[in-house]
Amino acid sequence: MIDIAFVKPALPRHGALVLPIGEGAEALAGLAQAIDAATGGAVQRALTAAGFKGRKGQSCTVWGPALTDGASGPSRIVAIGLGKEITPEAAEAAGGALYALVQAEREAVVAAEALPAPVAAALAMGLLLRSYRFDRYRTTEKEEDKPKLERLSVATDAATAAKTAWAPLRAIADGVFITRDLVSEPPNVLNPPEMAERCRALESLGLTVEIMGPKEMKKLGMGALLGVAMGSAQEPRMVVLQWNGASRGKKAGQKPVAFIGKGVTFDTGGISIKPAAGMEDMKWDMAGAGTVIGLMAALAGRKAKVDAVGLVGLVENMPGSAAQRPGDVVTTASGQTVEVINTDAEGRLVLADVIHYCQTRFAPRFMVDLATLTGAIIVALGHEHAGLFSNDDELAGRIMAAGKAVGEACWRMPLGEAYDKQIKSEIADMKNVGGRPGGSISAAQFIQRFVDTKAGPMPWAHLDIAGTAWSSKDLPTSPKGATAFGLRLLDRLVAEHYEG
Ligand code: BES
Ligand code: MN
Ligand code: ZN
Repeated sequence: MIDIAFVKPALPRHGALVLPIGEGAEALAGLAQAIDAATGGAVQRALTAAGFKGRKGQSCTVWGPALTDGASGPSRIVAIGLGKEITPEAAEAAGGALYALVQAEREAVVAAEALPAPVAAALAMGLLLRSYRFDRYRTTEKEEDKPKLERLSVATDAATAAKTAWAPLRAIADGVFITRDLVSEPPNVLNPPEMAERCRALESLGLTVEIMGPKEMKKLGMGALLGVAMGSAQEPRMVVLQWNGASRGKKAGQKPVAFIGKGVTFDTGGISIKPAAGMEDMKWDMAGAGTVIGLMAALAGRKAKVDAVGLVGLVENMPGSAAQRPGDVVTTASGQTVEVINTDAEGRLVLADVIHYCQTRFAPRFMVDLATLTGAIIVALGHEHAGLFSNDDELAGRIMAAGKAVGEACWRMPLGEAYDKQIKSEIADMKNVGGRPGGSISAAQFIQRFVDTKAGPMPWAHLDIAGTAWSSKDLPTSPKGATAFGLRLLDRLVAEHYEG
């Protein structure tokens, strides 16, 4: 991972010098002015010749400039536009775009003297997030084809403020990388027991990690989750992660916030098997769980002043000889029965049992579940928004706002009795599919049946991330592949409303 440092401004003698410039900036200042002077005005001439105005998305590189005093200087100078409004969000996107322009250098220095600390930190964050790469299984890549950037030095006079702004971002980036690694792993490597073991490793961050296997889950009556697991040679797991960041202080005993993730390490569809084309994508059907795990790591890493629990249901959906069949009826941990019409609608079966367990054990302040639940949400919203379903307007509003702030947009979808009717069964309390119309909504209705509001309100939100967990194209702060969508959103949600 790239090392991010905050240093006193000084002209670098090698590598890249990065000049972030706002639109309409008067004249070069600080290190930008110093390098312009040292190169006999070459920088300003290049900017003028290139028509560089500091607009968002603009950049201009001066290659191999000679210093007039003959000393060695940076091997490239990269000006990047920050646009008119220099917000942390704009800086983050600029940092992401910057990565491609400097990744061939070992070191880059950013002239951030004029930037407020949160903006400088956001720029580093954007670059770091964009630099993510999953290359564990590449053994023959040539050295010269690999990205080289090892260190990004942010030159600022306000190093203390910048470091303070950076510390939580660093923890969040670590969490994002944990999620992306989990989601990127091939499904033969990352099966449920292995994924649970990787959670265990997070104890070093101060998280409490409990792992349950089929025996414990049988005792808990988790017939829906266990039903999905029956077709696989891999045992299922449920992992409970706890972070007690508020209880460490005086407010012990406060209810935790709760996050629940769908962790289907591979979804063949089971007996209702999926077509071959594109089935390899179903390795990332555990992205909800992967995101919850990375989120818990981020909260622990930045020592969030909150009590939080993260629960993940880990199963592999396979069509083995012991697999459940269409027509089976399973009894969930809540006692409600489900007629399994389609074994490919497995995520909701997993979530049903984990959500019920979460609520009965923790009585949390709210529950948010994340799941790559339905192909239908991609039909509805494409890859631009996650589907948000909630029984609580305040929670939904907070999630929408947090998502907007961190660039993880959600769109609220409806819930209602008419949709709930779609999952009526002739033989059990409900069936696990509600037909094609509003397929994401009937899936959410199914989950909602396991959120118990008989004894009082239980704010709950469900994020269908099937369209956003993985990207087939590069995004501003995420190279193509696993995005960790939802992690920063939920971290922001906690930071804004549930800490302290
Ligand atoms: N994991 C899939 C949903 C999915 C599809 C995620 C495409 C990412 C990309 C889920 O388990 C599933 O198979 N859902 C079915 C539900 C149907 C059988 C009611 C679907 O969407 O087709
Ligand atoms: Mn499925
Ligand atoms: Zn699935």
